[in-house]
Amino acid sequence: MLSERMLKALNEQLNRELYSAYLYFAMAAYFEDLNLEGFANWMKAQAEEELGHALRFYNYIYDRNGRVELKAVKEPPKEWESPLAAFEAAYEHEQFISKCINELAALAEEEKDYSTRAFLEWFINEQVEEEASVKKIVDKLKFAKDSPQVLFMLDQELGQRQPQLPGLLLQSEG
Ligand code: FEO
Repeated sequence: MLSERMLKALNEQLNRELYSAYLYFAMAAYFEDLNLEGFANWMKAQAEEELGHALRFYNYIYDRNGRVELKAVKEPPKEWESPLAAFEAAYEHEQFISKCINELAALAEEEKDYSTRAFLEWFINEQVEEEASVKKIVDKLKFAKDSPQVLFMLDQELGQRQPQLPGLLLQSEG
């Protein structure tokens, strides 16, 4: 049985994961407007992954006999100054999410809720990967500066990213 405090914190993280998906959809839309389809593809795959994260929290709450409470999801920004600014914002966001996951783990330890602590292990590892993959793109964009050729090559590269959760409805038909 989850404590009230733990349940509230898990529901808050579920909301943050949904916001993460919203944020990356907003970034995908921004890149669509710039005709950077590879960047948009990468962001859509990222958004899809975030829905998967939300689903993990959703399922876990029910596995522990809790109740999911869905709060309003904050509206994300629509515009960024540049592709670099968008990825820097994504990196900052992932660092914030890592902090939230660590705080959840600390709470689970404080409450001696070892099941939740074990559940969070996957997220702790995932955040290392999330931060690293975004940071790599930030660095490449810094290197590209204003070179359209490098931006084009990077767009091709990011267009290769495949969605990781084929079971979700976001995959396009064909
Ligand atoms: Fe769900 Fe990108 O952290």
